[in-house]
Order: sequence, then structure tokens, then C-alpha cells
Amino acid sequence: MQRGGNMPVARRKARALYVMMMVNIFICVLIGMLWNLGHDKSGRHVVRIPSKRFWHQQVLSKSFWNKEQQRLDFIYNPIINSALSSNPIIVLPDWLNDTGPLNPCEQDYRVPMQISDYNTLPQRFQDFLLYMRCRTYPMMINQPHICDEKPFLLLVVKSLIPHFDRRQAIRETWGRAGVFTNRTVKTVFLLGNTLPVDHFPNLLGMLGHEAKHHKDLLQWDYRDTFFNLTLKEVLFLEWFSQNCPHAQYVLKGDDDVFVNTLRIIDLLEGLSEVKAKDLFIGDVINNAGPHRDKKLKYFIPESVFVGQYPPYAGGGGYLYSGDLALRLYKISQQVVLYPIDDVYTGMCLKKLGVVPEKHTGFRTFDIEEKYRYNTCIYRNLMLVHSRTPQEMLTIWPWIVHPELECQ
Ligand SMILES: *[C@@H]1O[C@H](CO)[C@@H](O)[C@H](O)[C@H]1NC(C)=O
Ligand SMILES: *[C@@H]1O[C@H](CO)[C@@H](O)[C@H](O)[C@H]1NC(C)=O
Ligand SMILES: *[C@@H]1O[C@H](CO)[C@@H](O)[C@H](O)[C@H]1NC(C)=O
Repeated sequence: MQRGGNMPVARRKARALYVMMMVNIFICVLIGMLWNLGHDKSGRHVVRIPSKRFWHQQVLSKSFWNKEQQRLDFIYNPIINSALSSNPIIVLPDWLNDTGPLNPCEQDYRVPMQISDYNTLPQRFQDFLLYMRCRTYPMMINQPHICDEKPFLLLVVKSLIPHFDRRQAIRETWGRAGVFTNRTVKTVFLLGNTLPVDHFPNLLGMLGHEAKHHKDLLQWDYRDTFFNLTLKEVLFLEWFSQNCPHAQYVLKGDDDVFVNTLRIIDLLEGLSEVKAKDLFIGDVINNAGPHRDKKLKYFIPESVFVGQYPPYAGGGGYLYSGDLALRLYKISQQVVLYPIDDVYTGMCLKKLGVVPEKHTGFRTFDIEEKYRYNTCIYRNLMLVHSRTPQEMLTIWPWIVHPELECQ
């Protein structure tokens, strides 16, 4: 009897102990998960780009970019959208309709009020922020037929109007790869405009001749500055979706990089179908974040952005699939323009769930000085930054002349 009476007590104790243990484990796992959400492997605090599920968070960020992104995340959230269509009584947060002027290309009157240190920010930030929401600018020069013959590889070069010599050097060297392979390779140069406020001489006449002669210029009517490079990126992606959606691969680079296009084509021909679809390779930078030193070119104030950067490929040059370019264009509409173009592309990739892959052949920080004039080293590289037009004309023959001995 005693034993019979004692057993349930012991069992109850054991059960209570068991339940407590499970609760403890649960709490540990929960804390671990929360910690992982907020911290990267090195233990530093990371604010991720808000994506799904952020609506739980009622607190709006104080940084302007982050706040604008929270709004886009809300608007494009599929769960919220389906909930709204089935239940119109859901109360939307007030900040959602604080969008600035209805026409996104009008100067954004909220900017000077909502950014506490607006008046002390460098001019380029003021220029950027006031027109951050505008993504439509008219085309001045187009090449709507350049992809009529489906390109295997489209070379897309970010250039500036005055850089006539750089463009010509590319046409005479790595832009001519189509001649050396049996693949269709096309080249386009991306240009904005020069505005009288920046005191450029008028080069549009010369540009018109160049466009007619080479039929490889794309130009939009916006002010071509460093902080507008992201605009150049999204305008290109839009153009691509409309004019060249069947190109198999895209290589996007600056007009001062040297590209071993033959090696790039070799690499692309060896890809498996699965790999080819999500291809995005370059000189990938991990664990970076905004610079807070005002004197740096890449300075970003906290009032504009807080958080870590996703992995991104240095803007000197990267290679991706045409399929991914189409997806990048679609997703870019859900990502607020960020003043640094390669970081912006990283943000779009992250939203797509695509991880950019590092390839040691992409040298956006150049190679060791002692190899600079090594005739053989360039055969195994994909891309090097930076080279002058004269250097490009020197290096290209090293690549295309097989009689040079290299092992
Ligand atoms: C947003 O809309 C709500 C009601 O529709 C209104 O009460 C609120 O003042 C609006 N907020 C802004 C910032 O316009
Ligand atoms: C031409 O392309 C095919 C694949 O389409 C390839 O097998 C062949 O080797 C190429 N020929 C030359 C001369 O590059
Ligand atoms: C970008 O271009 C637009 C249109 O020309 C201009 O209003 C804006 O100030 C430019 N932004 C920067 C940062 O130069």
C-alpha cells in the first residue's frame, strides 16, 4: 500500500522535474534564436534588412532609409496583403501613408524635416535624399535592336560622357570578344547626363556621333554622379527586361576594368544548368557595414542608414545570369535606392535569397605590382581594376595571341 501510495508522488515529482527541464530547454533555445537573429557569428550587433515578419515590430527606425524600407516591406508583404483583402477592418499603422509627394519624382518635402542633421550633411546626400524615390528618367539614346540576335554574353559598362577614350579602348580590346569565339557577345555603355550646374562643356554633339557610329550607347537624362550609380543600375535592369530579356549572361563593370572576356566565356560554357540560373560571381565582400567617417567617399550618416551590409560583389565588375537580371529588376522595386550601387545590388540579392559567390579571378583591388606587366598572369584572371586605355591595348594581345608561351 505504502509503495502504491508513494509511487504517484515520486512520479509527479519526476514529471514536474521533467516539465521544468523542458521549459528550461525551450527558454534556452528561444534565447539562442533571439541572439542569433540580432547578432552575427562574431557577436557584433547586426540589424538585418527588414524582410518578412517585421510588422510585429511597431517601432519605426529613426534612420531615413531604414524607415522607407520598412514601409516598402509592409506594402509588399504578401501575408498582410491577403489579410487586408479578406478583412478590411485591420487598422493600418499611421506611418504607412506618410509617403511624401504623390509624384515620386517631385522633391521630397519630408526629407529636411525627418532627417535631424539634414542641414549638416554633405551636399551629395541632400541631392540623393531629395530624389531618392524617383526611378523614371527619359532615355536620350537607346539601342532597341542590339539584342535582336540573342547575346550569349552582354557586356555592360558603366561609363561617363567625357570618357570617350576608355570606351574606344574597350571596343578595341575586351569588348571585341565575339570576334574570337563563336559566341554572340554584345557591348553597351551606360551613361547619364551632364548638367550645366556641374559646369561640363557640352559634349552631346560628339556623343551623338559616337552613338550613330558604334550603336552601343544607352543614355538617360539624369545627373550622372557617384550617388546616382544605383539609379544607373535600376535603369539598366529595366532596360534589360524590356530590350534584352533573353541574353544568357551579363557582365557589368566599370570603364576602367580590364576583363579577360575569353576566360569568362570559357567559365560560362562549363557551367551546369542549375548553377547557370542563379549565377552571381565577383569579388564578394562579407561582413561590411557603413563607414561613419565623414571624410571617406563611402561615408553614410546614421540618420540615413543603420545596419550591416549583406554580402555584395565589388562594383568594379561582376558576372550574373540573364535570368537573375530579370529577377533583380522585379525585386529592386521592393528595395529603397541606396547611395552605394554595389551594396544595393547585394540587398536585392539578399531579398531574392541568392548568395553572391566569390571568385579569386575577379581582382577589383588589383594584383600585386610585380605581376602587373607579366604577360601570362592575365590569361588566368577574369577581371582587374584599374587599367588605363593604353594599358588595355597593351594587355589584350597577351591574351589573344597563343604564340606567347605560358604554362
Ligand atoms: C494616415 O491616414 C490616417 C487615416 O486614414 C490619418 O488619420 C493619418 O493622419 C494619416 N497620416 C498621415 C501622416 O498622413
Ligand atoms: C563553338 O561553340 C561550341 C559550343 O556551342 C563549342 O563546342 C566549340 O568548341 C566552339 N568552337 C570554337 C572554335 O570555339
Ligand atoms: C540624381 O539625378 C537626379 C536627376 O537629374 C538629380 O535630381 C539628383 O540630384 C541626382 N542625385 C545626385 C546624388 O546627384
